[in-house]
Amino acid sequence: MRGFDSRPGLKLTLGGWSRIVPEEKEALMINTDRVAVISEHYDQFALRDAESPHWLDSFTYGVLTNMTGACAILEIGCGNGRAIPVFEQFRDRSTNHARNLTYTGIDCSKKSLDVARKLYHGYSFIEGDGFRVSEYFPEQRFDMVWLGAVLMIYSPKEARLLLQEVRKVLTNEAVGFVSVPYGEGTYHPPTLPENVQYHRYNADAMEYILGDLYEPIEARVSGGMLLVTFRVK
Ligand SMILES: C[S@@+](CC[C@H](N)C(=O)[O-])C[C@H]1O[C@@H](n2cnc3c(N)ncnc32)[C@H](O)[C@@H]1O
Repeated sequence: MRGFDSRPGLKLTLGGWSRIVPEEKEALMINTDRVAVISEHYDQFALRDAESPHWLDSFTYGVLTNMTGACAILEIGCGNGRAIPVFEQFRDRSTNHARNLTYTGIDCSKKSLDVARKLYHGYSFIEGDGFRVSEYFPEQRFDMVWLGAVLMIYSPKEARLLLQEVRKVLTNEAVGFVSVPYGEGTYHPPTLPENVQYHRYNADAMEYILGDLYEPIEARVSGGMLLVTFRVK
């Protein structure tokens, strides 16, 4: 998330995106070994940006103000919890809602969660796999899902499946936020394990992963990242 900033960025036109990614009918199994590789990788970076300044710009504030009443936030791939201050700032500034903010962070990196638990008290952290989120919360429903710099680890097909799984634990009025590197194709930063690559997302890929379950609220590109807010359809 380095380079993420609040400068006004390019606003994408929503609603007219053409669907260029074909529908994937087959269920795609996410290999648990792969998630193990990913968690091992992120264990090494458990402290990264742990206490870097946080951003609550008009865009992120925008998605948060779409929430009313009791506000149960689910963050998938929460890492060391560095987004929590965003929610805290929002709660503290909020005059009419989100006072009852609850937060649950899920991550597959145990070491990152160890850091999160030390830094942020009064929140719930679960070591787990986002692709199995409905198993962890058979009853509970969330008002918002936050996925900051997580989906880039997955192809659009995988990301779509992840969002389908996430829908099972959201209320019908829920909203969400995702950030992913903007563009096309894949890349491989040298620190990543050989069999993991990062995916860039453009508007078509984003529309594909939101599928029929969600609709975009707003999108923009800032600091090389595509930031999208969405709501359940
Ligand atoms: C680039 S880090 C971003 C961390 C945090 N969201 C932030 O903005 O600082 C990606 C995080 O997603 C986690 N992650 C990746 N795949 C996951 C999965 N299937 N289930 C749970 N966490 C996952 C990684 O362990 C890592 O902590």
